[in-house]
Amino acid sequence: MMFVKLELLLLLLCSFLLLFMSCMVASEDAGFIYNGFQGANVSLDGMAQITPNGLLMLTNQSIRQIGHAFYSYPFQFKNQSDGNVITFSTTFVFGILPEFQSLGGHGIAFVITPTRALPGALPAQYLGLFNEFNNGKQSNHVFAVEFDTIMNTGDFSDINNNHVGIDINGLMSIHAAPASYATDHSGGVNNLTLMSGKPIQVWVEYSGLNKQLNVTLAPIDVTKPDIPLLSYYLNLSQVVEDLMYIGFSSSTGAFSASHYVLGWSFKMNGPAKELSISQLPKLPRIGPKEHSKFLTVGLPIIGLVLAFIVISIVLFIVRRKRKFAELLEDWELNYGPHRFKYKDLYIATNGFRENELLGIGGFGRVYRGVLPTSKIEVAVKRVSHKSRQGLREFVAEIVSMGRLRHRNLVQLLGYCRRKGQLLLVYDYMPNGSLDKFLFNQSKATLNWGQRFHVIKGVASGLFYLHEGWEQVVVHRDVKSSNVLLDNEFNARLGDFGLARLYNRGMHPKTTHVVRTLGYIPPEITRSSKASPSSDVFSFGAFMLEVACGRRPIDPQASSAEKIILVDWVLSYWTRGKILETVDPNLGSDYVAEEMDLVLKLGLLCSHSIPTARPTMRQVVRFLAGDVPLPESSLHGQAFAHGKGTEVFATSHPSSSLGNTSTTQLPLVADSLLSTGR
Ligand SMILES: *[C@@H]1O[C@H](CO)[C@@H](O)[C@H](O)[C@H]1NC(C)=O
Ligand SMILES: *[C@@H]1O[C@H](CO)[C@@H](O)[C@H](O)[C@H]1NC(C)=O
Ligand SMILES: *[C@@H]1O[C@H](CO)[C@@H](O)[C@H](O)[C@H]1NC(C)=O
Ligand SMILES: *[C@@H]1O[C@H](CO)[C@@H](O)[C@H](O)[C@H]1NC(C)=O
Ligand SMILES: *[C@@H]1O[C@H](CO)[C@@H](O)[C@H](O)[C@H]1NC(C)=O
Ligand SMILES: *[C@@H]1O[C@H](CO)[C@@H](O)[C@H](O)[C@H]1NC(C)=O
Repeated sequence: MMFVKLELLLLLLCSFLLLFMSCMVASEDAGFIYNGFQGANVSLDGMAQITPNGLLMLTNQSIRQIGHAFYSYPFQFKNQSDGNVITFSTTFVFGILPEFQSLGGHGIAFVITPTRALPGALPAQYLGLFNEFNNGKQSNHVFAVEFDTIMNTGDFSDINNNHVGIDINGLMSIHAAPASYATDHSGGVNNLTLMSGKPIQVWVEYSGLNKQLNVTLAPIDVTKPDIPLLSYYLNLSQVVEDLMYIGFSSSTGAFSASHYVLGWSFKMNGPAKELSISQLPKLPRIGPKEHSKFLTVGLPIIGLVLAFIVISIVLFIVRRKRKFAELLEDWELNYGPHRFKYKDLYIATNGFRENELLGIGGFGRVYRGVLPTSKIEVAVKRVSHKSRQGLREFVAEIVSMGRLRHRNLVQLLGYCRRKGQLLLVYDYMPNGSLDKFLFNQSKATLNWGQRFHVIKGVASGLFYLHEGWEQVVVHRDVKSSNVLLDNEFNARLGDFGLARLYNRGMHPKTTHVVRTLGYIPPEITRSSKASPSSDVFSFGAFMLEVACGRRPIDPQASSAEKIILVDWVLSYWTRGKILETVDPNLGSDYVAEEMDLVLKLGLLCSHSIPTARPTMRQVVRFLAGDVPLPESSLHGQAFAHGKGTEVFATSHPSSSLGNTSTTQLPLVADSLLSTGR
C-alpha cells in the first residue's frame, strides 16, 4: 500500500514536473519582442552585459573575450507530430564598434543551440561557438548565422572580412555572401560595412514547409529589402533538436570590437513582430564625436551669421558714435550755448544732402536745415580746415562775432567743430543772395527803392562792424554774393570775419585768394593788410554793381572799356553822363538824385588811395542825405584811380587770382593791358 502510494506520489510529482517543464518551454507559436533589453528574459555569460541604456553588449573592446546572450527559455523547434522543424522567424538589430577604424573582430552570430552554455567554446575565429576539437562535428547540433568581420581563409575559407554566412555545426559556412542589401529587383546592391558602428537590421526566416532559410540585411533606416542576401534550402530537422535555445554569441581576438544587439524579436510559426526602431537604445558614438548636420554645418553658419550681425551692429554703433562724436576741448567750454551738436546739424540738414544745398561759396558748401528740437530754420556752412593751427583763435573770434547783433548782419548762431571741418550755423535767409537778383536777369527783379534800401542796409551793417562794436571788425569780403536778403528784402551782410580763417593759412588751397577780383583795393595787392578802408573800397564796387546791374569786372563785356566797371562809370562821369551807366533793366524807374549819389559815392569809395576814401560812418551819412557828397574829391579820383588800376593789373601775379569764378581773369587783366590801353 505504502509503495503504491509512494509510486503514485512520484508519478504525481513527475507529472507536475513535466507540467512545469512544459510551462517553461515556450508554446508552439511563442515569441517575444525586445526593443532594448532592459528587463529582458536573457541569460548572459562571458563579457555579455546589458548596459544602463538597454543595449545588449556581447563584448567590449577587451581582446580574446567571449560574450553569450540567450533567451532564458528553450523553444520547441520540432513539430511533435511529424518531427519537422517548424517555421520560425527572427529579426534583430546589431552594431559593431571596432577597436580601430576598420580593424576589429571577430564578429557576431545568431545561434540556435541545444544548450545555453556552449562548453569549451573559444574566442577569436571560433566566435565563442566552438573549439578546434568540436568544430564541424554533427553532434554539436548548432545552427548559426555569422556576421564575420575577420577573414580566416585557412581554417574556414572565409570569403572576405565583411561577410554573412550560414553555419551548421561549424564555422565553415555552407553558404556566405559579402554583406550587402538589394536596392531593387534588378540586381542593384548596396554594400554594407558590418563594422561601421552603425546599426544594421537582420531578418532570419525559415520556412518549415519549404525548408528554405532567408537571411536579409539592411541599415535601420531602410525598409526590409524584398530580396534576401542569403536564400538557402536546408533541412534543419537534421540539425536542430527538439528543444533549442536561441541567442547570440560574439568574440574578440587579437583585434577587438564592441558587439551590441539593440533589439530583438522572435516568433515560432509565424513572422516575428517588427521592431520599433525609434524605441531602440542608441549605440555609443564611434571615434571622434560624430556631429549632426546641424552641428557641423548649421551651427557654424548660424554662428557666422550671428557674429556678422553682432559685428555689423558694433560697427554701426562705433561708426555712428564716431560720426557724431563731439570734439570738445577745454577752451570751448565757455562757448556752450554757441556750440552745436554735430548730430543735430546732421539731422537738420538730412545728412548734408545735396537737395538741401543752398550754394557753394568761397568758404564751403552751405546747406539749409531745420534744427531738430527748436525747428528753427538755419543755414549751415561747412568750412573745411586742414589744421588745428589758429583754429582756437578763429573759433574764439567766430563766437565773439556771434555776439554781434545788427539787423543788417546775418546772425551767427553758433558753430560745431569737426575733424577737418568747421560748421557755422546762421540764420536762414529765405531770399538768398543779392547777386542772383542783379545779374543775368532780363528784367529788374529788384526795383530801385529796394536796391537803395539794400545799399543803405549793407552800409549800415558794415558801419556797425567797423565802429559799432568794441573792436574793429573788417569784413574783408564785401560783395553782392555775400549780401543776403531776408523775407522782407532787408540786406544782411554775411560771411564777416571768415576771411581771417583763410589768411591764417588754414585752407592751403585758397590761402591767397579770399577776396574776389574787382572788389580788391590796390593797396591789398601790395601789403595784403586789410583795413576798414579796404572794406570801403569793396563797398564802392558793390554800390556800382547794384546801380549798374553789372559785375565789377566783366570779362565778357561787349567793349573793352566796359570790362572794369569803375573805369567805365568814371569815364561817363567825366563826360557828365553818369546816369547812362544805370542798369538798363531799371529803365527810368529810379530816383535820379539817389542814383547819382550812389554812383558818385561808389566812385569815391573806389578811390585808389585808401585815405581818400570816406569812412563807413561818412558813407552812411551821405546815403542818408545828412551831408552832401563833396563831388570835388572825385576829381583826384580820375587820375589816382587810373593809376591804381594799372598798379592793380600789373602787380597781380596770376597765382593770387585763383578764385573759382574768376580763374580766367589774370589773362583778361593781361589782355586788358595790351588791347584796352
Ligand atoms: C520572461 O519569461 C516569462 C516566462 O516565459 C514570462 O512570464 C515573462 O513575462 C517574461 N518577461 C519578459 C520581460 O519578457
Ligand atoms: C571590458 O569589460 C571588462 C569587465 O567589465 C573590464 O574589466 C574591461 O576594462 C573592459 N574593457 C574595455 C576596453 O572597456
Ligand atoms: C505539425 O504537423 C502536423 C502534421 O503534419 C500538421 O498538421 C501541423 O500543422 C504541424 N504544426 C506546425 C506548427 O507546423
Ligand atoms: C561591394 O563589395 C564587393 C565585394 O566586397 C565589391 O566587389 C564591390 O566593388 C563593392 N561595391 C561597391 C559599390 O563598393
Ligand atoms: C525567401 O525569399 C524568397 C525570395 O524573396 C521568397 O520567395 C521566400 O518566400 C522567402 N522565404 C522565406 C522563408 O521567407
Ligand atoms: C528532413 O530531414 C528529416 C530527418 O532526417 C527527414 O525525416 C525528412 O524527410 C527530411 N525532409 C526533406 C524534405 O528532405
